[in-house]
Amino acid sequence: MEKKHIEAVVFDLDGVITDTAHYHFLAWKQLAEEVGITIDEVFNERLKGISRMDSLELILIEGNRQNDFTLAEKEEMATKKNLHYCEFLKELTPEAVLPGILELLAAIKAEGISIGLASVSKNAATVLKALQLESAFDYCADAAKISKSKPDPEIFLTACNGLGANPAYSIGIEDAQAGIEAIKASGMFAVGVGNYLEGADYKVEATSQLGWEIIKEQYFTRL
Ligand code: BG6
Ligand code: MG
Repeated sequence: MEKKHIEAVVFDLDGVITDTAHYHFLAWKQLAEEVGITIDEVFNERLKGISRMDSLELILIEGNRQNDFTLAEKEEMATKKNLHYCEFLKELTPEAVLPGILELLAAIKAEGISIGLASVSKNAATVLKALQLESAFDYCADAAKISKSKPDPEIFLTACNGLGANPAYSIGIEDAQAGIEAIKASGMFAVGVGNYLEGADYKVEATSQLGWEIIKEQYFTRL
């Protein structure tokens, strides 16, 4: 299918718009250490784009402690991790928007293309507010109403639907492997940010390289 136009660009939040992916890691590391499990940044790649409870399950499996806690205890641990994370969020200011993102948002908006957000974080609204970016998005998919985490396409399809955009004519931008898989499963064009990603249609190492002209060029030259 030839791609003749672009209807929407849908962004992931944590690790794309701002570096909260690192705050998630620090908060999980702290929680994991409290139950005697050590995680590093390489392991953390597997937690990106994954819901809070699914992340906790992966950490417990990593420490071989998956059978040691009741559901109530696990919910308590997830809440504790979120408290650690929310402490980090207090430091978030508009200066924390990653390089190149404001320029990219402005270039997309200037062409009248819809902009959406597809984050499975229940803290997404707090993060956008701290960054003063609430008005930059035409539609934000509500993580609380999503039943399946990435790599399921549900959140990207919900964002496209909310924007009235056809996924086949839309672009998703992600820093997580699970996110790239979710974008591809939704039928969108996948732009990846980072070193460890597989399966993206176009990939850059850092957000500073996310130029709108090159993204469009890549989109229009792929079938
Ligand atoms: C995603 C992050 O955006 O949100 C994950 O990549 C995180 O690391 C997930 O676990 C859920 O976030 P929250 O804020 O609801 O715990
Ligand atoms: Mg992310």
